[in-house]
Amino acid sequence: MNKLASIFIIAIAFTSINIFASTDVAKGKAIAAACVACHGAQGNSVVATFPKLAGQGEGYLLKQLQDFKSNVRQDTIMKGTVASLTEADMANLAAYFSEQTITQGVASKSANIALGQRLYRGGNKDKGVTACIACHGPTGTGIPSAKFPALASQHATYTTKQLIAFRQDASNTQMDTNAPERNNDYEGMMRNITKYLSNKEIEAVSQYIAGLH
Ligand code: HEC
Ligand code: HEC
Repeated sequence: MNKLASIFIIAIAFTSINIFASTDVAKGKAIAAACVACHGAQGNSVVATFPKLAGQGEGYLLKQLQDFKSNVRQDTIMKGTVASLTEADMANLAAYFSEQTITQGVASKSANIALGQRLYRGGNKDKGVTACIACHGPTGTGIPSAKFPALASQHATYTTKQLIAFRQDASNTQMDTNAPERNNDYEGMMRNITKYLSNKEIEAVSQYIAGLH
């Protein structure tokens, strides 16, 4: 319960009021024409390696665009895409995509949904894995004000790649390799969790998330 209480405090601390007051959704929509090829109409990508952006939290989206630009989150495709965007462009894009409605995802029929659900809702006490539900919510809507992303209905292929990329960070440091990694999570919130997850658990929870709505 202590862990949950501290998460709640972090969520409150991250909450800032009215920072998006000057965004322009119409301008964001116009620039979003450049995103359709990969992220789909209204941010509903139909390709499993390209994430859906529709309905994602505005603060989280803006943070990711800023992180791609500064290379804090490394991705060659997105780095090129955001290179010419201004801070205002990125804020307007984030506002536009956050207002779209995500299309419902489906889990693969062969997935181990029971394992995914157990991990998502209950974590793993033996290994000290906090339940995903604490930060991403019971229906995967996240906590937008704290920049905790929505996960529900996301492509499992994309989710799996992110979880492996978070997990990779620690082992890269240990093994001195350059495998793709993600370390733009504040205070290692996701790295601290993924380092205890097996490939089987990652696959199962990604499928559970794909079917969550
Ligand atoms: C050529 C394909 C391509 C185009 C065009 C593209 N993206 Fe992406 N985008 C990607 C890929 C691939 C990823 C996933 C990167 C990874 O695996 O970490 C991504 C990730 C993202 C993310 C992170 C989503 C998350 O859930 O963390 C955001 C936000 C994003 N793109 C916004 C945009 C915006 C806004 C545009 C248009 C200005 C755009 N992208 C254009 C391919 C593209
Ligand atoms: C203590 C809070 C916390 C817990 C618990 C947590 N997460 Fe996260 N998660 C975050 C934050 C914060 C981010 C965003 C990092 C950033 O700013 O890029 C994130 C990002 C993610 C992403 C990347 C989303 C995207 O669109 O790229 C996935 C996938 C994810 N979490 C899955 C999980 C799963 C699965 C669990 C449970 C096994 C879990 N998280 C538990 C806080 C948490």
